[in-house]
Amino acid sequence: MKTTVVAVINQKGGTGKTTTTINLGSSLSKLGKKVLLVDLDPQSNLSYSLDVASPDATLAEALLGTKSIADIIVEKDGLYIAPGSNELVDVEISLVSQPEREKFLKSLLSQLKGFDYVLIDCPPSLSVLTLNALTAAQEVLIPLQMEVLTLQGLDQIMNTVNKVKKAFNPKLKIKGIVVVMFDIRRKLSQEVLEYLRENVKEKIFDSQIRLNVKLAEAPSFGRSILDYDSSSNGAKDYKALAEEFLKA
Ligand SMILES: Nc1ncnc2c1ncn2[C@@H]1O[C@H](COP(=O)(O)OP(=O)(O)O)[C@@H](O)[C@H]1O
Ligand SMILES: [Mg+2]
Repeated sequence: MKTTVVAVINQKGGTGKTTTTINLGSSLSKLGKKVLLVDLDPQSNLSYSLDVASPDATLAEALLGTKSIADIIVEKDGLYIAPGSNELVDVEISLVSQPEREKFLKSLLSQLKGFDYVLIDCPPSLSVLTLNALTAAQEVLIPLQMEVLTLQGLDQIMNTVNKVKKAFNPKLKIKGIVVVMFDIRRKLSQEVLEYLRENVKEKIFDSQIRLNVKLAEAPSFGRSILDYDSSSNGAKDYKALAEEFLKA
């Protein structure tokens, strides 16, 4: 079975990376796919949002080589999660001085079998951790808010992806851009989206993720939106995205 590894990136914080990783992952798993979520952000919002934060067996230990990747994976509501922790900051520091420092995550993931999709929730920076995600991945997914500075941000992401492609991962592909926190009533959002459609050659998913307060609430209950409120607009939007994602 072929595993597709997808890095969810955007170098800005608060742009819907973690929300998209969790809820796209959960939607894919409800569609029958076996999905692993990797929490690569030292802030470990993903692990807290799914209530699987654990101090002693996290991705940090696996990357440092003191635990195997299989030992740190936990299951929750049918989803598999490699929890992160603040120790990833130490990992980052220790990796910087190592040879082939960009390949550690790739080598860990290659030990796993049976997953259809691995979604990596990246930190909001171009750190050595993000470099590891982009080296391990076959595909990149970019959650994007429709703001004026979105376009400049997108340019920077494309530059980063192109550099990693050249240096470490020639087959890396942009799977597409996901419009998140979309406010249909706001004229600016519509205008930015139109501009993107006309000027960006990458795929922009038709399924947009609307602003929905339930998506912001779900983490306090340790659940994905599908398990927290399956009839919310947030759940509908991520389900539609997952179906489109599988066809893309
Ligand atoms: N579609 C949405 N509607 C409402 N709130 C959202 C939506 N997507 C994300 N949020 C909220 O916005 C904040 C930032 O999202 P998050 O996914 O944590 O971004 P990142 O991981 O890029 O920092 C979080 O509080 C999250 O709950
Ligand atoms: Mg995040």
